[in-house]
Amino acid sequence: MKKTFALLLAAIMMLALVACGGGDKPADSAPSDAQTEQPADSAPADVPEAPAEGGTIGVCIYQFTDAFMTTYRNALQEILEGKGYTVTVVDGANDQAKQNEQINTFITQGVDALIINPVMTSAADQIISTVKDAGIPTVLINREPTPEQMAVYDKLVYVGCDARQSGTMQGELILDTPNGGDINGDGKISYIMVQGDPENVDAQYRTEYSVKALTDAGKEVEQLNLTRGDWMRERGQEIVANDLAQFGDQVEVVFCNNDDMAIGALQSIQAAGRKVNEDIYLVGVDALDAALNEVSNGNMTGTVLNDAVGQATAAVEEMEKLLGGATYASGEQSVYVDYVKVTPENVGDFMK
Ligand code: BGC
Repeated sequence: MKKTFALLLAAIMMLALVACGGGDKPADSAPSDAQTEQPADSAPADVPEAPAEGGTIGVCIYQFTDAFMTTYRNALQEILEGKGYTVTVVDGANDQAKQNEQINTFITQGVDALIINPVMTSAADQIISTVKDAGIPTVLINREPTPEQMAVYDKLVYVGCDARQSGTMQGELILDTPNGGDINGDGKISYIMVQGDPENVDAQYRTEYSVKALTDAGKEVEQLNLTRGDWMRERGQEIVANDLAQFGDQVEVVFCNNDDMAIGALQSIQAAGRKVNEDIYLVGVDALDAALNEVSNGNMTGTVLNDAVGQATAAVEEMEKLLGGATYASGEQSVYVDYVKVTPENVGDFMK
């Protein structure tokens, strides 16, 4: 009786398999399927086979609470899943040791490729040597290592933006105001700088190039204060509250290295009874939805689009090139997506 049942079950399973197309595929099925059915040794030795449709991808994000990286990781996940990959996105919780473990776990699990937003740029050497030893094609995002660091591994590429460009655009947003940033007409632009995590080139370059745009235009500048806000809204709020209490009307411009800190800054500007674009200017970077709203309401002077969707798209494109066997020559391992200036005039183009 038991045996008959087992035979019956086996027959049903066979039928189900054939009905679901689990047997041999017709010759005209999708090319990626056809490719995966080739015997492993049919590919030329130096060109790794592209993974089967539905390869597995590990994505490491430096910190889930980061507002910009939230938009970015959601875009990455959507694009990858839309292309049929199995994706796992993990939170490094701003802890490099934790992220190193996550990378090792992905490697042990045998992912086909990694996309990594390092917690610390200074950990790039270690991250690169780990993925190189494991031979995993890797796209680094958002925190740019040096060309020399990347040169050691040819299946590695960085996708990001040139942060100098965003700094320059912030300076230009101030130069484009009716009084060029000199609200009190004393011949100099007095500003406070709210910096991201200074370990990160985005923070370094935005800080430098926003002011450089002013001095390159022949303006005199006065830095009242520079404080690190580590990209976080609450820090932006605290810092600007303190600076306004200390420097009051002297503050003409508030430069924030990102929008989340600028939104925090705006709360303190309003709490101090100041009015953006009348007695103080405020600029950020990212074009977060909240910042676009404030630019459109006149509560921020402007921002700069840090194109999360564009970067996520480019990161996946580069990942697929690597999976297809591409390698990168040293000095050619950075792929940049352009920043775009966002003003009250064009903000509507960026709002959903
Ligand atoms: C973004 C910041 C973000 C940082 C994270 C920068 O490019 O502008 O908003 O916090 O990346 O590394």
